Amino acid sequence: MDAHNGQKIYAHIVGWGMAVPDGVLTNAHLEAIVETSDEWIRTRTGIRERRIASERESTTTLGLRAAQRALDVSDLQPTEIDLIIVATSTPENIFPSTASLIQHSLGAVKAGAFDLSAACSGFVYGVDMAAQAIKSGSIQTALVIGTETMTRILDWQDRGTCILFGDGAGAVVLRASAAQGGILSAVLRSDGGGSDMLGLPTVGSVDLRNAFSAVNGARPTAGLTTPSVELSSSPDARPRMYKMHMNGGEVFKFATRVITESVHQALEKAGLTMSDVSLIVPHQANQRIIQAAARALKVETDLFMSNLDRYGNTSAASIPIALCEAIEQGRIREGQNIVFVGFGGGLTWASMVVKWTGARPPEPGATTLINQQRRQISYLFARWQMRLRRLSRRWTSLFARFLPHRRKKTE
Ligand code: UT7
Repeated sequence: MDAHNGQKIYAHIVGWGMAVPDGVLTNAHLEAIVETSDEWIRTRTGIRERRIASERESTTTLGLRAAQRALDVSDLQPTEIDLIIVATSTPENIFPSTASLIQHSLGAVKAGAFDLSAACSGFVYGVDMAAQAIKSGSIQTALVIGTETMTRILDWQDRGTCILFGDGAGAVVLRASAAQGGILSAVLRSDGGGSDMLGLPTVGSVDLRNAFSAVNGARPTAGLTTPSVELSSSPDARPRMYKMHMNGGEVFKFATRVITESVHQALEKAGLTMSDVSLIVPHQANQRIIQAAARALKVETDLFMSNLDRYGNTSAASIPIALCEAIEQGRIREGQNIVFVGFGGGLTWASMVVKWTGARPPEPGATTLINQQRRQISYLFARWQMRLRRLSRRWTSLFARFLPHRRKKTE
């Protein structure tokens, strides 16, 4: 909690929502793609199936659906949002940000928007950024979304990664309040020294395709290597452009170590201990990681929310999706302390303690119906506004061709 004009402000989660594609990819489907088996995947990871986005779905459309559901639960209007943060490793573009695309589609005309890159820890990072902005008094309301289409960046020849990941999105609405509780503490960490363990080489300041061909030819051109990807002369060892790569064993060890360490640190910051915790919502990577973390923290595995059997690893979306299902299953109640813990590429990791303050979806009634309709109008208006703006630009450029004096002006 921070002071603003003498009054302490708290940041509470007042809305939540998730969206997953209808398409289901089972372990049996994967048996037809790579040399693997349902038995291996289930026993080594706990995953039975994952969702896969259709051609019409994207990181933005999934994130938008999750955001709309979170707004319904909070019963707020898009125009009340001050800030939108999208945590993703599979953005539509480097820019414009996925957050800006969602901001427009919601009709959140008063919001700032940006994407946040912290891989599977991104959602916890995003919630902390938003909570800090709320507690400082700088904003009132924030929307934080974790959304991914991981299946679009998988190397379907690499059985070590392609069996793990799925698509989906989750979102929360955070709101300023004078009531005690909400986001109590957070610990955000990074170790770029482990950047080669997990990554997605893509368009950036270094084009690895050139670097790789330089390796194939002779020596790489100076300055073409990045610290994250050491160039190897063996084609098999080289990460593929636009495809995710991971050293699973090393990431596994890193994950179990940092979960224990950072959960303790976040609890200490909040002035709490493990015995005060009612539920841990971890990044859903591997059931064996959850079991190892439970052993290290000396708690029952049941204290951890787990739904990776149905969704696999959805990277930045996994914590908010698991949170939504935990709420739906009645596993989170008013006054309880819950912990989020994420870990992944960067390397990055993050833990957060939240005192749940019992926000509930609004009771159905005349007011909520009107609010719901206002939101729908906002989404519809945003869609038409985009079309009309494009059409008007097309007409303007067409007219400009027939108006020589106007053309001169712009030349
Ligand atoms: O969200 C980012 C964070 N990511 C994670 O937390 C992932 C962490 N890592 C893991 O979850 C695990 O390391 C994996 C699930 C990726 C791999 O499990 P593992 O128990 O560490 O297996 P391994 O990589 O040590 O491989 C054991 C064996 C190998 O065969 P040999 O060399 O013993 O003959 C692999 O080639 O299993 C083989 N293997 C497979 N076999 C069937 C690897 N992947 C598969 C597969 N199907 N899909």
